[in-house]
Amino acid sequence: MQQLETDDPEQIADYISNYLGHCEKWFGPAVNLKDKRVLILGSGWGTEALWALSKGASEVVGIDPELRDREPLDIALKNRGMEELMPRVSLLQHTSFDAPDLGQFDYVLSNNVVEHITGLSATLYSLRRFMPKDRRSRIVIFTDPLFFSSSGAHFYLRKWEHLTMGSARLKTRVSEVKWDNYRNTLNGMTITDMLGAVREAGLIILDLKIIADRHLSEFNKIAPFIPSGIKPMDLCLEGLFLKLSFPENL
Ligand SMILES: C[S@@+](CC[C@H](N)C(=O)[O-])C[C@H]1O[C@@H](n2cnc3c(N)ncnc32)[C@H](O)[C@@H]1O
Repeated sequence: MQQLETDDPEQIADYISNYLGHCEKWFGPAVNLKDKRVLILGSGWGTEALWALSKGASEVVGIDPELRDREPLDIALKNRGMEELMPRVSLLQHTSFDAPDLGQFDYVLSNNVVEHITGLSATLYSLRRFMPKDRRSRIVIFTDPLFFSSSGAHFYLRKWEHLTMGSARLKTRVSEVKWDNYRNTLNGMTITDMLGAVREAGLIILDLKIIADRHLSEFNKIAPFIPSGIKPMDLCLEGLFLKLSFPENL
């Protein structure tokens, strides 16, 4: 996912709109949001919120520990002639732990967030309180790029640059925002960690898709320069899609 390095609401609105295709590709086949209540875990500026509204969700609530101004999302809605849907969406500065009682949801969607969460299994478990018993509520997660993949630093300088270039040199090549994101917000999660967290949270996997690394064909050329303890499986897996359910929601 690209890093946003602007405060301009119009540019952020464009960024939000640019993700509609991505959301459609990954979440579209997995959900039916018509007249459904949707919780977004890690809603950021409203990327998935815009898409969920465009798919007919009756209400969309985004939670994110970072405070985000509503203006860019409202601009994106206006630009698409969807301003009458503004009252259906709220972006709240909360985590799943400290959020007030928000009622119950049919779906929890999360895009490019789980690789930023500390305490992943506890966070997944905490979603239980938003899912009504005996309703077919689902959690749908997409994340890319995973930390050890060729683009895992989110720098896009070279393939696997964060594992082959010394950090002193690397730091001089990227902006402060990108460096801070790399050093302080990524949890280094692997597929094994993710599946462990899903299992620990008591969730059931209904669908699982993987995205092989986009630079797979160059892996063997670069592998000798990568520290040997890191497993090829983690180095060559770029992204994950998961559709999950708690047993009581089956
Ligand atoms: C890369 S951004 C993605 C934002 C948005 N989903 C998108 O695709 O545009 C990751 C987001 O996860 C949020 N985040 C970090 N830890 C979180 C947590 N424990 N619960 C919910 N969101 C979290 C961050 O604040 C950030 O907004």
